[in-house]
Amino acid sequence: MPLVTTKEMFKKAYEGGYAIGAFNVNNMEIVQGITEAAKEVKAPLILQVSAGARKYANHTYLMKLIEAALIETGLPICVHLDHGDTYELCKSCVDGGFTSVMIDGSHYPFEENIRLTRQVCDYAHEKGAVVEGELGKLAGIEDAVNVSDKDAAFTDPGQVEEFVKRTGVDSLAIAIGTSHGAFKFKGEPRLRFDILEEVQKRLPGFPIVLHGASSVIPEFVEMINKFGGNMPGAQGVPEAMLRKAAAMAVCKINIDSDLRLAMTASIRKYFAENPSHFDPRQYLSPARAAIKELVKNKLVNVLGCDGKA
Ligand code: G3H
Ligand code: 13P
Ligand code: ZN
Repeated sequence: MPLVTTKEMFKKAYEGGYAIGAFNVNNMEIVQGITEAAKEVKAPLILQVSAGARKYANHTYLMKLIEAALIETGLPICVHLDHGDTYELCKSCVDGGFTSVMIDGSHYPFEENIRLTRQVCDYAHEKGAVVEGELGKLAGIEDAVNVSDKDAAFTDPGQVEEFVKRTGVDSLAIAIGTSHGAFKFKGEPRLRFDILEEVQKRLPGFPIVLHGASSVIPEFVEMINKFGGNMPGAQGVPEAMLRKAAAMAVCKINIDSDLRLAMTASIRKYFAENPSHFDPRQYLSPARAAIKELVKNKLVNVLGCDGKA
């Protein structure tokens, strides 16, 4: 099966009350861990690549790894640019075979966000790719820039219809209190489901995207802390909240930090227990297996997209 866009995936996910997992990929072990898990539970997948990942691993290497995953799994897979920040970057990814791009104009004023998003949509749609836009700013760490909690701007539901209509976007990321990274909440986790509900009312049937949706699994944080790490106060989005969002209009749930934590915890443990080993295959095998286990649990118990491929 060739790479697919998110069109069909989102339609079924919206109607079925589940969400598709969008997992960030940076190297072979991550691609393998995610796609082996999805194959076992027959889940459709979005593999997303950030500008940083593309710089780290190279566009062609990542595309070829994903093509290999297509052959090995036979699953419907979409390759998506995560947080594209310029028209040129989005164009380059579409030209290089991505079936979906995000243009993140959320830091611009409303009119400029519309102009940039429209420009990307015009190009991508012409080439058969789909586009995700963003309205509202996430709190926390995004692209290595700290946005303090007080600067976090929740999405204004009053703007969503105009934004979607004037840009032509295929999906919309909104800010309801999640944030990127491993430190998402200071106290009790709280998401603005009232905003999601209002957006859903104003855009019936339209797919919504949730960024910053890692749960920061305590087991991995504890393992990191046990084996020489130091991550006090790490906290993520409770799984029950993700299930609730998936049952509503949220069709795409973005997960990166949980993969990083699983991999790092596994490698720290490995070296603590095997201090004299130095073959990368020895410590990357359990790390890949940890990603696979984590993703399988997400697909089945959190996103509910198992059996939907
Ligand atoms: O939202 C950001 C993703 O976690 C990607 O992070 O830019 O460090 O690759 P990155
Ligand atoms: P996390 O940092 O919560 O994994 O979010 C990832 C993300 O939103 C990628 O765009
Ligand atoms: Zn994000």
